Amino acid sequence: MIYNRGTKEASVLLFKQVYDYLLERIQRGEWKEGEKLPSIRALSAELHVHRLTVFKAYQLLKKNSKVYVKDKQGYYVRSTVSESVHPRQDPIIRGFVQGSSLSEIRDVKADYTFSIALLDPNLLPNHYFSEYVKKVFDLYPKVLGTYSTIQGDEELREALSHYFTEKHRFYLSSDELLVTSGSQEAIDLIARVIVKPRDIVLLERPTYSPAIDVFTRQGARILPVEIHRQGYDLEEVERLMKQYKPRLFYLNPTFHNPTGYTVPAEQRKKLVELAQKYRCLLIEDDPYRDIYFDKEPPLPMFAYDTSGYVIYVRSFSKYVAPGLGIAVVACRPAVMKELLRAKSLSDSGTPLLNQKIFLRYFFSERLQQHLAKLRIALAVRKEIMEQELTDTGCSWESPSGGFNLWVRLPGHVHLETLLEASTASSITFVPGCICDPLKEYRSWIRISYSFLNEQQIREGMSRFKGLFRQNVAASALAFMLPNRDNKA
Ligand SMILES: Cc1ncc(COP(=O)(O)O)c(C=O)c1O
Repeated sequence: MIYNRGTKEASVLLFKQVYDYLLERIQRGEWKEGEKLPSIRALSAELHVHRLTVFKAYQLLKKNSKVYVKDKQGYYVRSTVSESVHPRQDPIIRGFVQGSSLSEIRDVKADYTFSIALLDPNLLPNHYFSEYVKKVFDLYPKVLGTYSTIQGDEELREALSHYFTEKHRFYLSSDELLVTSGSQEAIDLIARVIVKPRDIVLLERPTYSPAIDVFTRQGARILPVEIHRQGYDLEEVERLMKQYKPRLFYLNPTFHNPTGYTVPAEQRKKLVELAQKYRCLLIEDDPYRDIYFDKEPPLPMFAYDTSGYVIYVRSFSKYVAPGLGIAVVACRPAVMKELLRAKSLSDSGTPLLNQKIFLRYFFSERLQQHLAKLRIALAVRKEIMEQELTDTGCSWESPSGGFNLWVRLPGHVHLETLLEASTASSITFVPGCICDPLKEYRSWIRISYSFLNEQQIREGMSRFKGLFRQNVAASALAFMLPNRDNKA
């Protein structure tokens, strides 16, 4: 559930938020076809909103054929089986229209997949991987015959604790590290052990969209915190912490996805102080730290934390053999105990083979050489994409690391029309509203330069720009449509 704090549009947005919340629960199958939804009275009590707000949300569900009214008894979930397949059933367009669905968009097959924030597999030293895999089998002949411990391989955790201490000034033991199968799993585990229904959670706006889904699924009430090139408005963050006492603030402060922004060091220290003062956990998600083009980013917030208010999540799947899916969580013992319990319910530990291969490869000289080349290759791709975007009327801030450009579309381009045309032209990108807890940002898109090679970027962008020109014709329509976000 997302709350937009007392703004002018609050009442309008609130019924839309209730609508989104109900729709999400229907789509998750919480209420099956033909089942009755809670009464208006019950729902308004549960959500602490006015009955009229729930009524308006139900009316919208009815209008959009999600529910029907039976014998004046209440609202029932409508069957979706007989609905004809409309172009809007395309996942990328549905994602735009209905809300967050990044994973669906990622799975769309296209010639030019600017929606994928993953590394081009051709940039990885694939031949060398096989050497390391062989090494691992020689060193640990029984590796496939054993489970890892739930917390993760001791040898790997030891090595990572030294690495973090040397590199980021973290002072922790291997017991304060948990190996997970990617940071997505880590975020999910953290949400499950820390967030209870109706807890307030602060999320950056925009943000990594699956995080919106994970915290919403826990029943959290979400408050957005705008992220800018210079970081956050800390006075606003303090006001929110003081007034709403959020349980946690999920942040991606280094080469942020989708914007590419990096929060400066002074803000990081101050945020940790605020977290301690208002007892709000900071979940620091840091998968892009090593993908910098010029200079290293500031230290993680975890380095400034002396009271256990920061939980640090570091994925290595962005560049160290993404297929291994290795991430690590650093946190203090009380949280660790809960995370271990949750992880033991979802699996028997991240596969040991993956951990051992990762260990041998990550700490090899080869990786460091590879990383230096990778940074150059990505910087070149980013520049090509930026060159292609000049003269389109788009605007963006050039990121100094990460995989994405966060692009504001020119006024005449209407996003939904562009999405339909792009899908037809085999081009994918991420519509900004998917990254927005408030589902606005309809004049923004995220395009990734990490997955396609230089030539593909040139070709794809040239095709994409052609769509912009065609879109001029749709401009009249665009201005007639409500909800176009020109504020963001
Ligand atoms: C900010 C952020 N967090 C988490 C993830 C998920 O990472 P992993 O592949 O390790 O699950 C991503 C992937 O795009 C991301 O951008």
